[in-house]
Amino acid sequence: MTINEALTKAAEKITRRDARLLLAAVMRQNQAFLIAHDKDFLTAAEQEKFAACVVRRAAGEPLQYIVGKQEFYNLEFEVNRDVLIPRPETEILVETAIEILEKQKNHNFCDIGTGTGCIAIAILKNLPAASAVAVDVSRKALKVAAGNARKHFVADRLILEKSDVFSAFDSKPSDFSLIVSNPPYVSETDSQFLPREVKDFEPHTALFSGADGLDVIKKLLCNAPQHLIKGGYLLFEIGYGQSETIIKLIDKNIWNLIKIRADLQKIPRVVVLQLKADKSFQK
Ligand SMILES: C[S@@+](CC[C@H](N)C(=O)[O-])C[C@H]1O[C@@H](n2cnc3c(N)ncnc32)[C@H](O)[C@@H]1O
Repeated sequence: MTINEALTKAAEKITRRDARLLLAAVMRQNQAFLIAHDKDFLTAAEQEKFAACVVRRAAGEPLQYIVGKQEFYNLEFEVNRDVLIPRPETEILVETAIEILEKQKNHNFCDIGTGTGCIAIAILKNLPAASAVAVDVSRKALKVAAGNARKHFVADRLILEKSDVFSAFDSKPSDFSLIVSNPPYVSETDSQFLPREVKDFEPHTALFSGADGLDVIKKLLCNAPQHLIKGGYLLFEIGYGQSETIIKLIDKNIWNLIKIRADLQKIPRVVVLQLKADKSFQK
């Protein structure tokens, strides 16, 4: 079977765009190669591998899990079904964290719910003097993050630990200048609105956080002060329609609400808080 015949047959089950992306990944070539060589024959092994990919995609599995990678902040991250696929809107969180850290003397930060490690690794790649601790409740996710840290040569500046939000720090004081998090924030009621590709394939610990979706965010707001320097920052991503509820949860005696940054669809996405300078917390 030729490349063109394989693509035409696959397009009966999946989009032609996805078919091209999958076949390019199977053949370890780019899409220009497929066009230039559309009359070339596939080997039996390539044909078999491509057919298996088409079956998975036709069943709704995200393309990124099938090809095993996703680009984020101009870096390629390994992904598998143990981790959330990094989303473009989360790049705003990274951009904001870099802007703040660049102005600080201390570049030691913490990433809560690191998943692929995409946030911590993208910040470290852009700030060569920075170091970080990234935690996740999922050991399987931490394994993926460790692989990505090695791939991007930041493993010597990144400590990965299993932790339920801040539980790993309970016995050791920490002094981060910034804490960043893209926490799970989907509520039980909103789970019905998630696309099948997300709900059936992405890890539920990465999506859901209690009945109102705010369990992890509440812990961040309550416990982050103990792990920040005076004047330190807490940045986290929120979901569609959550900004008003979250503003009410912020203790104004502890935090200054610096801003809530919107994404390209004008949806409020990134909450930026600064610990009030006169606050000191028992470590
Ligand atoms: C929305 S995903 C974000 C992953 C990655 N940071 C990103 O932006 O693509 C949330 C992550 O938080 C982790 N998580 C969920 N509950 C947690 C908890 N209580 N403590 C620490 N991590 C948690 C999940 O395992 C998942 O990796």
